[in-house]
Amino acid sequence: MPKITISNQGHKVVNYKLNNAAPLTVLAILQENNIDWMHACGGKGKCTSCKCIIVSGEVNLGAKTQVEIDFIDSGKILDFQQMTCQALVFGNVGIKVPEKNKLPGVNYTN
Ligand code: FES
Repeated sequence: MPKITISNQGHKVVNYKLNNAAPLTVLAILQENNIDWMHACGGKGKCTSCKCIIVSGEVNLGAKTQVEIDFIDSGKILDFQQMTCQALVFGNVGIKVPEKNKLPGVNYTN
Protein backbone atom coordinates (compact mmCIF):
# COMPACT_ATOMS: atom_id res chain seq x y z
CA MET A 1 0.00 0.00 0.00
CA PRO A 2 1.55 3.36 -0.99
CA LYS A 3 2.08 6.02 1.61
CA ILE A 4 2.58 9.72 2.14
CA THR A 5 5.12 10.54 4.85
CA ILE A 6 5.01 13.97 6.45
CA SER A 7 8.54 14.53 7.67
CA ASN A 8 7.93 17.54 9.92
CA GLN A 9 4.93 15.96 11.61
CA GLY A 10 7.09 13.34 13.28
CA HIS A 11 7.38 11.38 10.02
CA LYS A 12 3.67 10.67 10.18
CA VAL A 13 2.75 7.97 7.66
CA VAL A 14 -0.53 8.10 5.77
CA ASN A 15 -1.33 4.90 3.88
CA TYR A 16 -3.75 5.08 1.01
CA LYS A 17 -5.30 2.84 -1.60
CA LEU A 18 -4.08 3.71 -5.09
CA ASN A 19 -6.60 3.68 -7.91
CA ASN A 20 -4.76 4.56 -11.11
CA ALA A 21 -8.07 5.05 -12.93
CA ALA A 22 -9.12 7.72 -10.45
CA PRO A 23 -6.03 9.02 -8.65
CA LEU A 24 -6.49 11.34 -5.68
CA THR A 25 -4.74 14.54 -4.81
CA VAL A 26 -2.39 14.68 -1.88
CA LEU A 27 -4.86 16.97 -0.10
CA ALA A 28 -7.77 14.56 -0.62
CA ILE A 29 -5.75 11.73 0.91
CA LEU A 30 -4.69 13.89 3.85
CA GLN A 31 -8.29 14.90 4.45
CA GLU A 32 -9.54 11.31 4.20
CA ASN A 33 -7.07 10.49 6.94
CA ASN A 34 -8.03 13.45 9.17
CA ILE A 35 -4.68 15.21 8.79
CA ASP A 36 -4.97 18.95 9.44
CA TRP A 37 -3.49 20.80 6.46
CA MET A 38 -4.03 24.41 5.47
CA HIS A 39 -6.30 24.81 2.44
CA ALA A 40 -7.75 28.31 2.60
CA CYS A 41 -9.62 28.27 -0.73
CA GLY A 42 -11.06 24.83 -0.12
CA GLY A 43 -8.85 23.07 -2.64
CA LYS A 44 -9.86 25.19 -5.61
CA GLY A 45 -6.33 26.07 -6.71
CA LYS A 46 -6.63 29.76 -5.91
CA CYS A 47 -4.61 30.42 -2.75
CA THR A 48 -1.41 28.26 -2.57
CA SER A 49 -1.88 27.84 1.19
CA CYS A 50 -1.97 24.07 0.69
CA LYS A 51 1.51 23.90 -0.77
CA CYS A 52 4.00 21.32 0.43
CA ILE A 53 7.73 20.85 0.08
CA ILE A 54 8.52 17.65 -1.80
CA VAL A 55 11.04 15.68 0.27
CA SER A 56 11.04 12.45 -1.74
CA GLY A 57 9.14 10.58 -4.41
CA GLU A 58 8.58 13.47 -6.80
CA VAL A 59 8.36 10.92 -9.63
CA ASN A 60 5.23 9.55 -7.94
CA LEU A 61 3.38 12.83 -8.30
CA GLY A 62 1.45 13.85 -11.37
CA ALA A 63 2.83 16.56 -13.61
CA LYS A 64 2.44 20.07 -12.31
CA THR A 65 -0.86 21.54 -13.37
CA GLN A 66 -1.16 24.80 -15.30
CA VAL A 67 -2.38 26.41 -12.06
CA GLU A 68 0.86 25.37 -10.34
CA ILE A 69 2.99 26.49 -13.27
CA ASP A 70 1.32 29.90 -13.17
CA PHE A 71 2.01 30.21 -9.42
CA ILE A 72 5.64 29.15 -9.98
CA ASP A 73 5.95 31.81 -12.67
CA SER A 74 4.59 34.42 -10.26
CA GLY A 75 6.89 33.23 -7.44
CA LYS A 76 4.08 32.13 -5.11
CA ILE A 77 5.32 28.53 -5.06
CA LEU A 78 8.83 27.29 -5.67
CA ASP A 79 10.06 24.61 -8.06
CA PHE A 80 10.46 22.04 -5.26
CA GLN A 81 6.94 22.64 -3.98
CA GLN A 82 3.54 21.47 -5.18
CA MET A 83 0.04 22.40 -4.23
CA THR A 84 -1.51 19.46 -2.41
CA CYS A 85 -4.92 20.24 -3.91
CA GLN A 86 -3.48 19.93 -7.40
CA ALA A 87 -0.88 17.17 -7.11
CA LEU A 88 -2.16 13.72 -7.99
CA VAL A 89 -0.28 10.96 -6.24
CA PHE A 90 0.67 7.55 -7.66
CA GLY A 91 3.05 6.03 -5.13
CA ASN A 92 5.21 6.76 -2.09
CA VAL A 93 5.83 10.43 -1.48
CA GLY A 94 7.54 12.36 1.29
CA ILE A 95 6.34 15.88 2.00
CA LYS A 96 6.87 18.66 4.50
CA VAL A 97 4.77 21.62 5.59
CA PRO A 98 6.43 24.95 4.68
CA GLU A 99 7.11 27.15 7.72
CA LYS A 100 4.57 29.82 6.76
CA ASN A 101 1.82 27.26 6.16
CA LYS A 102 1.97 25.62 9.56
CA LEU A 103 -1.33 25.55 11.41
CA PRO A 104 -1.69 26.64 15.02
CA GLY A 105 -2.49 23.74 17.31
CA VAL A 106 -0.61 21.18 15.22
CA ASN A 107 2.66 19.78 16.56
CA TYR A 108 5.51 20.05 14.08
CA THR A 109 8.96 18.56 14.25
CA ASN A 110 12.12 19.37 12.30
S1 FES B 1 -6.24 24.93 -1.14
FE1 FES B 1 -6.08 26.82 -2.11
S2 FES B 1 -4.72 26.40 -3.71
FE2 FES B 1 -4.88 24.50 -2.75
